[in-house]
Amino acid sequence: MERDESRRDSQRVTLHPPEDFAGMRRAGRVAAELLDHIGQFVRPGVTTGELDRVCAEWTAERGAVSAPLNYRGFPKSICTSVNHVVCHGIPGDKVLQDGDILNIDVTPIVDGWHGDSSRMYFVGRIGVKARKLCEVTYESMMRGIAAVRPGATLGDVGHAIQEFVEAHRFSVVREFCGHGVGRVFHEPPNVMHYGKPGEGMVLREGMFLTVEPMVNAGRWETKILADGWTAVTKDRSLSAQFEHSIGVTANGCEIFTLSPAGLDHPPFAA
Ligand code: MF3
Ligand code: CO
Ligand code: CO
Repeated sequence: MERDESRRDSQRVTLHPPEDFAGMRRAGRVAAELLDHIGQFVRPGVTTGELDRVCAEWTAERGAVSAPLNYRGFPKSICTSVNHVVCHGIPGDKVLQDGDILNIDVTPIVDGWHGDSSRMYFVGRIGVKARKLCEVTYESMMRGIAAVRPGATLGDVGHAIQEFVEAHRFSVVREFCGHGVGRVFHEPPNVMHYGKPGEGMVLREGMFLTVEPMVNAGRWETKILADGWTAVTKDRSLSAQFEHSIGVTANGCEIFTLSPAGLDHPPFAA
């Protein structure tokens, strides 16, 4: 996800012709299949570095390129964000333990198109609160996506997410947002996961976006660790995230990163 540090205007947002949808469909499919594939490896005792290696190998075998690797200096092929890590966790020696929740965020590049998607995975048996957090986060993403159509605004999308999350007494992270996606990994506009109806940029057919709410069990504030990447909740509360890449169509949107096996919605695998 992008850090929200600039106001970006609608002039710079790419409007894609129908043939570009075919490109994103292929990239999104590879992202979804990769997230389907990695699920079986998520279990107590495995390290996040091992998950990275499995994903890197699978992606290369498919003839795709892992966009995160060397992106602005990011050292690995996927992001692995465990428990109170909000996003951009760096895979390494961390050993997963029974009861952990884990976000895996992947972005294979296929024929130049970026398929950006993430899901939550459960390590062994999960607490009631952690499960609820993941379910609410998933549902908030889908409500945001349901608000996407030509003529709707980014504020409508953010509002749909925020309203649902806060009704469940969880909070929406402010410092990171969704983004335009396509031949470029991150491009305008910024897609905030909070907002007011009718505010913000008007959506138009042919825009490609990610919707990727980060939801905290406690307060929304985050901080970045000394590695320069890992974002964590300031209060160390649990955090969850889901992400789809979508394209705005004539009367709604198309989700490019749906799981062909149906593994991207609750009840989640692992
Ligand atoms: N996949 C992330 C997103 O959803 C971006 C990760 S950038 C990285 O936008 F460098 F941390 F990999
Ligand atoms: Co993204
Ligand atoms: Co992502």
